Amino acid sequence: MIRSRIIATGAYVPPKVLTNFDLEKMVDTSDEWIISRSGIRERRIVEKNVTTSDLGAEAARRALEMAGLTADDLDFIIVGTNSPDMSFPCTGCFIQAKIGAKKAAAFDVSAGCTSFIHALSLADKFIKEDPRRKVMILGAEIMSKITDWSDRGTCVLFGDGAGALILTGEEGERGVLSTHLHSDGSLWELLYIPGGGSANPSSVETVNGGMHYIKMAGNQLFKVAVRALADVSVEALNFNGLTSEEIDLMIPHQANTRILEAAAKMINFPMEKVFLNIEKFGNTSSATIPIALDEVNRAGKLQGGEKILLCSFGTGVTWGSAVIQW
Ligand code: ACO
Repeated sequence: MIRSRIIATGAYVPPKVLTNFDLEKMVDTSDEWIISRSGIRERRIVEKNVTTSDLGAEAARRALEMAGLTADDLDFIIVGTNSPDMSFPCTGCFIQAKIGAKKAAAFDVSAGCTSFIHALSLADKFIKEDPRRKVMILGAEIMSKITDWSDRGTCVLFGDGAGALILTGEEGERGVLSTHLHSDGSLWELLYIPGGGSANPSSVETVNGGMHYIKMAGNQLFKVAVRALADVSVEALNFNGLTSEEIDLMIPHQANTRILEAAAKMINFPMEKVFLNIEKFGNTSSATIPIALDEVNRAGKLQGGEKILLCSFGTGVTWGSAVIQW
């Protein structure tokens, strides 16, 4: 059987660290509140002149280096992002130009923090069409530029970064075993940016009203997220005929440690097998999973053959999962 195998990973986070103690000086919050409610200690923030495609291009270069490929080898570049460089053209095209991937077809997918799972699902389908293809998928975000730094309910949660994977077709057991995608658009008001689109085109009024920033009903989203992550994980296990014991590692979207603990408890999944790096990077939206996967991979924790469950949720509301055999 031909499967879509991940042959390389790469990630890049900007060097500037913003700690909870820094945030204490900016809004009415505390390190104790942030760490106990979210699990976050610090996050990375870009300098003013850096774009989402800059972060993505650096993650892409690192993945290409690991794969021993050049940018010319890529057939597709698919970018999950909620913080594109511009409304158009897509961030994928900017990354394509920056790395010089001349023959690749580049485009973005926008499905909240779940976008990376959507990108993975599409990559799997492109490779099943033609296993010789080399597909790069990325999650790349600059959340700091769409965050209201006076809103303590959201500004403590997010960070900037990018992660990239390269996949190609290979005969055997290793690769993507399944992907599952879901959404419920009736819940859009739980997390959104009201301004800058066709509903509220940018104007002096939208900017003065802070409508270009994230609005979030955190408490309600929390409950939806727990249920969604639990349901989509069970769906993935059942689809593959696997039990929790047979999963070596869960790499979930890093939004909030308490959400992950509640979801894991709901499905009886041991927290020891749930990978967490939210403490260092906060919520980098669609970039959390590829950044985490790169960290695990480069730390030499994967020998080959491990079964890894990826799961995510995000604005939309969207949620999804993937099972891969490393
Ligand atoms: N510091 C101190 N106090 C705060 C802060 C803060 N940074 N933020 C909120 N509070 C206060 C609130 O005002 C509230 O005070 P009140 O009781 O006097 O009104 C109190 O803390 C409790 O607020 P809750 O919102 O109920 O706190 P909760 O325990 O739900 O934690 C949090 C808030 C961390 C936002 C949580 O709801 C959450 O993580 N929700 C999910 C958010 C999420 O994952 N979003 C992204 C998903 S999609 C994506 O990744 C892009």
